[in-house]
Amino acid sequence: MPIIRPLSEVPTARETCIRWADAEWGAVAGFTIADWEEEYARIEAHPTDEVFVALEDGVPAGMVWLLEHEGIDTLQHLTPWLSSLVVDPAHRDRGIAGALIRHIEAYAASGGDQRIYLLTETPAVYFSHGWEVADTAPLGEKSVFVMQKNLTLAASVA
Ligand SMILES: CC(C)(COP(=O)(O)OP(=O)(O)OC[C@H]1O[C@@H](n2cnc3c(N)ncnc32)[C@H](O)[C@@H]1OP(=O)(O)O)[C@@H](O)C(=O)NCCC(=O)NCCS
Repeated sequence: MPIIRPLSEVPTARETCIRWADAEWGAVAGFTIADWEEEYARIEAHPTDEVFVALEDGVPAGMVWLLEHEGIDTLQHLTPWLSSLVVDPAHRDRGIAGALIRHIEAYAASGGDQRIYLLTETPAVYFSHGWEVADTAPLGEKSVFVMQKNLTLAASVA
């Protein structure tokens, strides 16, 4: 299993995390590398937003973000959000996404959150972790699934 740390504890992984975000969502978000730099600086300055990095043998293998809000006006009443889950292609299919999902659930639960939410086009990634589809929401020109998990029932989070 990977070791999972806040990005602030592994600053050498920052450029890799920016590259992952840009590769996965740069085009759809209309973000440049400078925009991602700004977004990471915003997260670093935010009191509760956090980027977590999974390390395999010391090498950055994946990341997930915990955000207070996901930026959709109609969903501002829901918090917090699992966001930007990505595993480096060279490290996929070894359970790293699962480890990151469980980590962020446990982190949110330890902070007192009773539910956690996410937006995705691929809910199948999360079903086996006890997440359910709660709604759909417009994101740009797409419709995405709003998923939720009740953390008070999450007996398996470590
Ligand atoms: C999706 C992603 C994070 C999975 O990472 P991974 O470390 O290979 O995943 P794991 O090995 O932990 O497997 C997680 C589960 O998701 C499933 N899965 C992985 N990719 C999937 C996909 N594209 N569609 C449906 N299910 C998928 C796996 O079969 C596995 O299911 P299981 O728990 O029932 O066995 C990785 O493929 C990725 O970074 N993709 C690009 C970004 C992305 O799609 N992010 C998530 C969507 S918001």
